[in-house]
Amino acid sequence: MFDVEQKAIQARISAFCQQNDIPETELKWSPIPFSGEWGISVSFFQMASNEAKAGKSKGLPVPQRASQMAEQVKDYIGAIPTISHIEAVKGYLNLYFSTPEFAARVIGTVLDGGSRFGAGASKGERVMVEYAQPNTHHSFHIGHARNTILGESLARIVEFAGFETLRASYPGDIGLGVITVVWAYNKFYKGQEPAGVHERGQWLANIYVEATRLLEKKDNESPAETALREGYEAERREMYQRWDAGDPEVRQLWLTTREWSLEELRDILGMLGAKIDVWFFESEVDEPSKAIVQELIDRDIATDERASGGAVIVKIDEKLGLTKEKYRTNVLLRSDGTTLYLTKDLALAREKFEVYHIDRSIYVVDVRQSLHLQQTFAILKLWGFKQSEKCYHLAYGYVSLPEGAMSARRGRVVLFKEVYDEAKNRVLAVIEEKNPGMPAEERAGVAHKVGLGALTYSMLCVDNNKDIVFELDDALSFDGRTGPYIQNAYVRANSILKKYRNEGGSDAELANPLFAHTLSMHEIELIEQITRFPALVQQAANEYRPMVIAMYAYDLANAFHSFYHAVPVLQAESEAMKKARLSLVLAAKQVVANALDLLGITAPEVM
Ligand code: ARG
Repeated sequence: MFDVEQKAIQARISAFCQQNDIPETELKWSPIPFSGEWGISVSFFQMASNEAKAGKSKGLPVPQRASQMAEQVKDYIGAIPTISHIEAVKGYLNLYFSTPEFAARVIGTVLDGGSRFGAGASKGERVMVEYAQPNTHHSFHIGHARNTILGESLARIVEFAGFETLRASYPGDIGLGVITVVWAYNKFYKGQEPAGVHERGQWLANIYVEATRLLEKKDNESPAETALREGYEAERREMYQRWDAGDPEVRQLWLTTREWSLEELRDILGMLGAKIDVWFFESEVDEPSKAIVQELIDRDIATDERASGGAVIVKIDEKLGLTKEKYRTNVLLRSDGTTLYLTKDLALAREKFEVYHIDRSIYVVDVRQSLHLQQTFAILKLWGFKQSEKCYHLAYGYVSLPEGAMSARRGRVVLFKEVYDEAKNRVLAVIEEKNPGMPAEERAGVAHKVGLGALTYSMLCVDNNKDIVFELDDALSFDGRTGPYIQNAYVRANSILKKYRNEGGSDAELANPLFAHTLSMHEIELIEQITRFPALVQQAANEYRPMVIAMYAYDLANAFHSFYHAVPVLQAESEAMKKARLSLVLAAKQVVANALDLLGITAPEVM
């Protein structure tokens, strides 16, 4: 922000060194922790130490000499227009910016940057974020929502931080669970199809529950029941074999029903504002993964025990030379030659890097799959796949219900669509009560944004590694540390600006603010929050932690609400003060919007 001043001071220090025969030393600048004033600080210890090493000591021990240098440089520099005061303290030189100047620069920078304020420079690295990868033939539940919300936010943050970003999905479209649904659909419901994207998805999920019950061994089964169940089981197995052999009829059934799930998934991704760039499917990496296994066998990394009725396995720990159990032994092919979940992940990883030329691959996957992914990466490494080091698992805790774990097999899930509908209805009820004048056509849009804002924020303000016990009332709360509280800061800023514009004011007049008044603590605190944003974007991207931005958005909104309650804007004492504060409101509104956008939340114009 004060690069020009910093360069000027740097030049003055160089001149000082030359005059005093001090070896030129690269200076380390750092911001002074904010305490009501902004500033930067530079240390002279390195310079004093270099001077001593070069045999040019002026007769003082290094710490004392550093202090002396700071004092001397302070006198040498003299006054600088935008610097309010300079202090020499124990070998450091602290330079404080004039507060009105700083405020004007921060706001000017935000207004210049607009929706790009806080974005990092291009890093020249391509990152793929894989998320939103539920299994097909089920419905989308609240656990999938956590995954998708987290993945989308991470993708936005990484992209905004300066990485070229590819969003990938990898639905599990094949496996015993999927075949179970196809079998039951074919046997009991063939030709039926409920109308409606979500109805169809939910209907498939119900078929799965029903089929699971039919295939499950019961206590005290009668011989007739046992025979029936075993018959079903044989049919299901046959269905899987026919799928594997590419039987056109089974493939068609599978594709049709798969499409119903994918339609529902795409619809929900649309609601959540997630645009997937690359769709991988488990079924498509099945064949390529078999070739990798052959290579692993040929190179003696995997052991083929199929001749003796066994499977193809990799003893990962042994092959890596580990003496303690870490990755264990894995099956890559069953005795009948079919692949497993893990096998397919080997081919997927390769495809990601080789087809899409990415530099880094992030997997947003439930913590229960940590071992699975660590095993995948370890086998890739054994195989000699160098980019295995560039694969990263972003694990997150799972979502359970107060009554226990969710289970798609048992039909004990909370569906995303139900929560979404409930969220919308609650917002509509609040509007009805508090803002009955809102035009009908505006209500649906506001309810969508605020309802989803509440749900999204409740998922992102928890650290990834924490489990969530999903309580509808908490997730849809509008008070306290919530999405709507942050959205409301945007709405309030907007309403002040609207009044100003209605009175004939224009945004152009706010572009170059001048602060001639003494800033109040509320203004200073709000500006301080605004300045934190760019560095936090980088931190969140480096740590893969959207929560950093979620916490920040709250702090920013909080600073805005305090400012809003305490500081008159349109009623400010003078015209100059009013303009300056209006530009601060405009800038704050922009940064709230930018931060919310990284969370995948949109603020409405009114609420
Ligand atoms: N479809 C899997 C599931 O629902 C998640 C896929 C995770 N990604 C991966 N590359 N294994 O459990």
